[in-house]
Amino acid sequence: MYTSRKYAGVIAGVLAAGLALTACSGDDGSSSTESPTGTTSDSMDGATEVEVFTWWTSGGEKAGLDGLVSVLAEKYPDVEFINGAVAGGAGSAAKDLLQSRLQANDPPDTFQAHAGAELDDYIAAGQVEDISDLYTEFGLTDAFPADLLDLLTVDGAIYSVPANIHRANVVWANPTVLDAAGLDPAATYASMDDWFAALDAVEASGQTALSVATTWTQVHLLETVLISDLGADAYVGLWDGTTDWTGSDVTGALEDFETLMGYTNTDRDGLDWPDALQMVVDGTAGFNVMGDWAAGELDAQSLTEGTDYVYFPVPGTAGVFDFLADSFTMPVGAPHPEGAKAWLDVVGSLEGQTDFNVAKGSIPARTDADESLFTAYQQSAIADFASDTIVPSLMHGAAAPIAQLNAISDATSKFTTGGSDLATFQTELAAAAG
Ligand code: GAL
Repeated sequence: MYTSRKYAGVIAGVLAAGLALTACSGDDGSSSTESPTGTTSDSMDGATEVEVFTWWTSGGEKAGLDGLVSVLAEKYPDVEFINGAVAGGAGSAAKDLLQSRLQANDPPDTFQAHAGAELDDYIAAGQVEDISDLYTEFGLTDAFPADLLDLLTVDGAIYSVPANIHRANVVWANPTVLDAAGLDPAATYASMDDWFAALDAVEASGQTALSVATTWTQVHLLETVLISDLGADAYVGLWDGTTDWTGSDVTGALEDFETLMGYTNTDRDGLDWPDALQMVVDGTAGFNVMGDWAAGELDAQSLTEGTDYVYFPVPGTAGVFDFLADSFTMPVGAPHPEGAKAWLDVVGSLEGQTDFNVAKGSIPARTDADESLFTAYQQSAIADFASDTIVPSLMHGAAAPIAQLNAISDATSKFTTGGSDLATFQTELAAAAG
């Protein structure tokens, strides 16, 4: 059991900034007069199906989703699960499609949204319902850390049920490849400069030093370099306006990002995250930076920590937990609100959170899960989440609105495909901040 997880004050500032922006927009989505839950009855009478929209299609992601589906089948045998998953890591294809559906008044019954700025976008657009009454009905009010609930709340109303907590700043590595390159597989690296020496060694051994995939994984890598080089406070300052995107410390981080990209596989833009991780598994790459859904993927392949893979925080980010959380919503106009209600009950339940997270690589958002059911990696993440400084992930919706993330992604892609130089890249990143 673990109950003492706390967010560092650092995320509170980002949160406050996000909420202030939403409050200023004058539209918090509360104009809907329809009750999201339809009936005041406790039962799910009339619930026949639920279309669940996610991007969880890879091995570990699908196994996590299957965990939720089996709890749904147990608790609500009359509710048919309709899988609305759209492939593409980090919602790279799903999010645009979802937005088209929402704008065409064709929402799924429930969809995946990241806690923080991304969810705030849906709330501000009036696309998701206030589900505060479900928290009371399902007894969820005290189930989650208060600071996490704050990320799901606007003006006292709560808009989604959190499924998990993921960590983004993790390096996954192949110990055999490191050993062959003359490196200690148990080594960790205190800075980007220290890591470059190790990357040189892997490159000299004839393998790809650092595997990466398409644009979103490059943005993911970039965010971890910003944390490493700027430190937690200045990284958070990028999102609350107190760190200048045009400053020399950001230039230094972008130079390190450019150096890192020089160690990567050239076919990267045609790959998604499981492919880049697989290069490490197959021994054709030494290192990969990815969120800990990679742990679920490695587990789905029955690989063994220590012999098949090792992991450590991105160099220079030990003691910092780059945080994100998946959550599920009740869209305005959901065709089967009772089915969605059943799904949200499952997502918030102890059984649902356990079955889902054990396979997904993440840790439960609930504070009352049985830690012993989780892997060694997950137990380390639970301990780190309790003691580390928590910062919000850019790529996974916690730190910045979708429009800013899209502008950063465009600038990153342009830079890494040779369409801009570093100075232009930095100018475009600063412009994305508005
Ligand atoms: C993240 C999501 C994770 C995982 C990952 C890769 O955005 O929060 O749950 O699925 O994308 O697809």
